Amino acid sequence: MKKSFGAKTLAYPTPAWVIGSYDKDDKPNVMTVAWGGICCSKPPAITVSLRKATYSFASLVERKAYTVNIFSGKYVAEVDYYGIASGRDHDKFDETKLTPIQSDLVDAPYVDEAELVLECKVIQMFELGLHTQFIGEILDVKADESILDETGKPSIEKLNPIIYAPGMSNYYGIGSSLGKGYSTGMMFKKDK
Ligand SMILES: Cc1cc2nc3c(=O)[nH]c(=O)nc-3n(C[C@H](O)[C@H](O)[C@H](O)COP(=O)(O)O)c2cc1C
Repeated sequence: MKKSFGAKTLAYPTPAWVIGSYDKDDKPNVMTVAWGGICCSKPPAITVSLRKATYSFASLVERKAYTVNIFSGKYVAEVDYYGIASGRDHDKFDETKLTPIQSDLVDAPYVDEAELVLECKVIQMFELGLHTQFIGEILDVKADESILDETGKPSIEKLNPIIYAPGMSNYYGIGSSLGKGYSTGMMFKKDK
C-alpha cells in the first residue's frame, strides 16, 4: 500500500549546488539551488531553475553564464547561507570569507574553495512557471586535487557532496556504493 502525497516537488535527493554569477556592477554573487541536474550529454549540459525574485536571476539572463559549485559537507553552513541571504543586500563572499575567482571561459565567478566546479554558458531558457530553467552548456569541469582518486578522476566518495531532501528541508552526505553502473543489472540480461 502506498500513501498519496499529491502534486508536490517531492523527489529525493536533489543537489545543493551553489550558482556563481556577476551582477550588473560586476559584484560576484552566489545562491544555492536544489532544482537542477545534468540534462544532456552532447553537448554536455546542465540545468538549474531560478525564481525571478532572486537577485541571481537577472545576472544569469544578462551575462548568459553561471558556474555550478559543488561542496563537501565541510561547507554546509556556507551553502545554506547562500540560500538564505540575497546578493541584493549582502556580499555573501565577504561574509563567509570564501574566494571568488573569475572564470576564464565564461562571464561568471566560481568559488575557489568548492571542490568541484562546472563553468557554464547559458544556451536555452525556459519559462516554466514560478521557476525559469537555465540550460547551461558545460565548457569545463575543474576538480580539486584532494578529490581525485588513484586513476586521477574526481571521486564522489572523496568529494562526499552535500545533497538535499526538499520535503524534509535537510542536508545529507552520500551513503556507500551499491554497485557498478551498467553492470550490476547484467544478471537479468538473457541475450549476453
Ligand atoms: C537548500 C536550498 C535550495 C534552494 N533552491 C533554490 C532553487 O532551486 N531555485 C531558487 O530560485 N531558489 C532556491 N533557493 C533559495 C535561494 O537560494 C535564495 O532565494 C537566495 O537568497 C537567492 O540568492 P540571491 O538573491 O543572491 O540570488 C534555495 C535555498 C536553499 C536553502
